[in-house]
Amino acid sequence: MAMLLLVGSAVTVQAIDPAAAAETTLRAAAAKAGLFFGVAASPGRLSSIVGQEFNQLTPENDMKPATIATSSGGLQNTGSADTLVNYAQTNNMLVRGHTLVWHSQAGALQGASQGTLNTFIGNAINRWGSRIAYWDVVNEALDDNNTGRRRTQWPHSLSRDANGDGDYFDAGDTDVIRDSFIRAKQVVQAGGLSTKLCINDYDVDGLTVSGGTPNRKANALYDIVRTYRQYIDCVGFQAHFNDNPNSIITNDLQANIQRFADLGVEVHLTELDIDDDLSNNDIGAGQAENYRKVVRACLNVARCTGITVWGIADSESWRSSERGLLFTGGGGNYQKKAAYHAVLDELNKGRDVSTDPTSPGTPTATPSVPPTTPPVTPSVPPTTPPNPTTPPATGCSATVSLNSWTGGFVATVRVTAGAAPINGWSVQLTLPSGAAVTNAWNANRSGSSGTVRFSNVSYNGRVNAGQSTEFGFQGTGAATGLTPVCTAS
Ligand code: G3I
Repeated sequence: MAMLLLVGSAVTVQAIDPAAAAETTLRAAAAKAGLFFGVAASPGRLSSIVGQEFNQLTPENDMKPATIATSSGGLQNTGSADTLVNYAQTNNMLVRGHTLVWHSQAGALQGASQGTLNTFIGNAINRWGSRIAYWDVVNEALDDNNTGRRRTQWPHSLSRDANGDGDYFDAGDTDVIRDSFIRAKQVVQAGGLSTKLCINDYDVDGLTVSGGTPNRKANALYDIVRTYRQYIDCVGFQAHFNDNPNSIITNDLQANIQRFADLGVEVHLTELDIDDDLSNNDIGAGQAENYRKVVRACLNVARCTGITVWGIADSESWRSSERGLLFTGGGGNYQKKAAYHAVLDELNKGRDVSTDPTSPGTPTATPSVPPTTPPVTPSVPPTTPPNPTTPPATGCSATVSLNSWTGGFVATVRVTAGAAPINGWSVQLTLPSGAAVTNAWNANRSGSSGTVRFSNVSYNGRVNAGQSTEFGFQGTGAATGLTPVCTAS
């Protein structure tokens, strides 16, 4: 039974069912709430707990350029990555590819040109295709110490700020972030892949950092995502929380997740671990509350579609002395910590998106910034047009791409205008039996199972001839064989 809440004049459906039996694994509880819960792993750590507890997997080190890239952008040593992808597939887990363009662990790619980076991007994406649900295309592009600036070392030394105004968005600028995403988008579109393209960074979690100072690093990331929105599908907050003043857990974590979500991208907490010392060595109780707070912030934003912890057990973590994970033990023999039980409990409570303006049941607010900002002319022109979809002669057409996991899915629907502009659209599709929509963004929705209809919201009804706009929805069950039918108005 869903609860109906009256919020102002709006009726909000809260996806919490107190009578439902609690799930007993993180993956099952997450799937019921409509998100994935994942873990970073390497082939030596694939004990049964990985497939039992988690429904998403990120190779901790085995897909980094240092492992798989040759100096000319080719691939080598992909065996460990293959092992992880195969394991994930066998266990119905999504895979996050980590990572394509990064200043660290670059191996033979260190110092490469944009052309060579582009070659590597193409080879890596095509190697695994849609078996990779999300790729971290660019990792850790921004400087430390809350400067709000880009890094300066390679590959960022490839970028040029022609007029010296501090950003790389102007005509004449060269931007390794933009050009890497353009290349990745081309590869995905040319291959008809469902893979989504993410930018990932740390210390970008809250709107503010210690002492209430604005989080300039988060603001810089926001500007990048807003400017290059047409190439970027998702944002990763690494969420390595420790006592560095720039990486503390703030009360505005949820608001920061929300503002990125309002741009239309999925938001993920990609490398979550929380220093136990943040709770004054109180043997885990404070850490558990911190985990609860972070998980709740994600659950309260409809487009926060996944959380990944950076390892299974404290002893096997990159920061083992800080005991930041959900299990103790090691070597396949693991014990659940208080933090584990807190996360499971919080996931079992489900989402409460009553404060999310893009969720169904609340009035859809016009975002403070347009969902897509026209991009600057790329300095490396795409070799294929960014959108190869052939527009229909008149009216509109729609295509759908799916990211699925056991018990749930996220669908992205692209609406394309025909030879004439359209001022409004609606898309109808029929879900298979057992599947149901839990929330949608960038569209109004009627119905949740069987035949469901979506229509434009105020800011995306107008689509110019041959151009596209996107909306998305999330659901439970399996959504196979969706055939969207688009009607223009
Ligand atoms: O496997 C070798 C081992 O054979 C050798 O004896 C040993 C000697 O040092 O090194 C081992 O490799 C280490 C590898 O982790 C596997 O444990 C590397 O030295 C070590 O540098 C590497 O560290 C990884 C680190 O990225 C490198 O920057 C961590 O495992 C990994 O958790 C960490 O992950 C990063 C994310 O990619 C990006 N965000 C931050 C996060 C934490 O730093």
